[in-house]
This record gives sequence, structure tokens and C-alpha cells, in this order.
Amino acid sequence: MQIVRNITDMEGIASELKKSGKTIGFVPTMGYLHEGHTSLIDQCKKEADYVVVSIFVNPLQFGPNEDFDRYPRDEQHDTAVAQEHGVDYLFLPDVHDMYPQKTNIELTVKRRTDVLCGKNRPGHFDGVATVLVKLFHITRADYAYFGLKDAQQVAVVQGMVDDFNFPLSIIPVPTVRESSGLAKSSRNVYLSKSERNQAAHIFKALQQAQHFIIDGNKNPVMIIEEVTKFIKQNTDGSIEYVELLSYPELERVDEINQQIIIAVAVHFEGARLIDNIILDKNGNIPEAYF
Ligand code: PAJ
Repeated sequence: MQIVRNITDMEGIASELKKSGKTIGFVPTMGYLHEGHTSLIDQCKKEADYVVVSIFVNPLQFGPNEDFDRYPRDEQHDTAVAQEHGVDYLFLPDVHDMYPQKTNIELTVKRRTDVLCGKNRPGHFDGVATVLVKLFHITRADYAYFGLKDAQQVAVVQGMVDDFNFPLSIIPVPTVRESSGLAKSSRNVYLSKSERNQAAHIFKALQQAQHFIIDGNKNPVMIIEEVTKFIKQNTDGSIEYVELLSYPELERVDEINQQIIIAVAVHFEGARLIDNIILDKNGNIPEAYF
């Protein structure tokens, strides 16, 4: 595995790989790698000739009161994990190299952002879009892998790729969970033991909602109420949102007769957690998402 810290070096490597006619698979991350990240890497390894993983805690996507400074970082651990999973190039750009000066152009994501995480994190997806435009160009990826744990991110990035004709495919990868059902996240390290036990109920609430839909319930309001009630009864977390929307459009629906997402954000003292489930109109997980 080659560690690449410099943008120009990464561009040179990508250009050589392209010349040789090989495909480049890319997994963008903010590091502190766990099994969620490695499932993206493993899938990438199967489908692309070369695997590029980036680790960059992107300041542009954090709000002023968010956890940019205390976002967990561990380069040594991440390097070992990447090596173990057969990564070919680990790209670790420096913030000054990525954002050297005042920008000439700013990206604003216009759709799919006034709901879920976008609603309470103004500018977050603009920051995600900006860094990904840069990373897609630098790595010259043919395939880019994204986790469905951040399903809104997948929808927004797919929208950007479609709008601007990026010559790459976005590959969504299912959420990796702990045995309790808790979605793996770099932020789980901030949960106390009791919070971690409580947090497992977030996925249980989503599974219960899935069963309501399988049983023929088509009413979003009722399902949102049940998910909210279940989380309130079983955790001390404070709910930021429970939403049921069409997916990937992320629009409100009056009745469940299309592919939907049920998504949740809950604040614990230690961390803000998100989770979701994507279902077809009969309550089954669509083939593209498992
Ligand atoms: P980060 O939070 O590090 O996540 C990197 C990728 O890992 C994302 O595509 C995310 O959805 C995926 N991932 C995280 N936890 C997962 C889980 N439990 N199961 C499956 N996939 C999981 O998302 C970002 O970084 C950034 O916004 C980034 C895309 C790198 C842009 O800065």
C-alpha cells in the first residue's frame, strides 16, 4: 500500500493508472476506520482494479458548533486497517493543500437538503459536495462507494453526479451494524455503556416500522408516531427528527406507494446518532440496497 499525502502525487498516480486502462475504485472517508468503512473497501476491492481510500476530516462540512475539533482521528490505526483490507493507495491530503485560498466558486446543493440532516446542518451538504468534486477529480475514480447509513448523502451525491455528468458510478453499500443492531459509526466511541444499549433501540424502532408496512399499513403519520414513541420509551436520547420520505427524491408522501426511507436522528449526551431503513411500498428492502 502506498501512502500519498500530496494532491499532485495522487493526480499523477491516477493518471498513470488510467493510461494503463485500469479501473479506479474510490472510498472517501473521514477516517477512524471501522467495519462500516471496511465493507465499502471490501466491495470496492472486488469490483475495481485499484482501490484508493481517502482520509480527510473536511472542515467545510462541519457547522461552527459541531465536532470538527474533537472528531476522532487515528492515522496509525487507519493505516493498518487500510493495509489489511488490501487498499492500494491511501490518500491523506492536508487541509492547506485541499483549501489553499479563498475559493472562486461555491457549491450550493439545491435539492434533497431541506429535510433530515440537511435541515439542521445548514451548509453541511455544500461542504460534502465541494470536497467530493475535488476528490473525484484528483482520484479520477470510475466507481465511488458510499454507505447507506448516510442515505441522504448518497442521494445528494447521486444528484450532483447526474447534474454535472461526472464520469463515475456511485455505488451504495448497506449499513453495517453491531450485533445489537446499532449502526457502526466513528462517533459511537463517545457513547457511555448505557447509551450504547439504549441506542440499539433506534434500529429496533425502524424494524418495527418495517413490519407495520409489511402488514399493510400505508400511513406515514402513524408510522412516524410509532417510531417516535418506541424511541422515547426505550432511550433517554432526544429526538432531532423521525421522517418518512420518498427515496432518493426525499419528498414528503401522503401514502406509502413508492420506495421510501424512514430516517432518524437522536442526540445522546455523548453523540448524535443517525440511522435509516429504505423500503419498497410493500416493506421489503429493495434489491439495490442489500
Ligand atoms: P465518514 O463519516 O468517514 O464515512 C465514510 C463512508 O463510510 C460514508 O460513505 C459512510 O456512509 C460510510 N459508513 C459509515 N458508517 C457506515 C456503516 N455503519 N455502514 C456502512 N457504511 C458506513 O461520510 C463521510 O465520511 C464524509 O461525508 C465524506 C463522504 C468522506 C466527505 O467528506
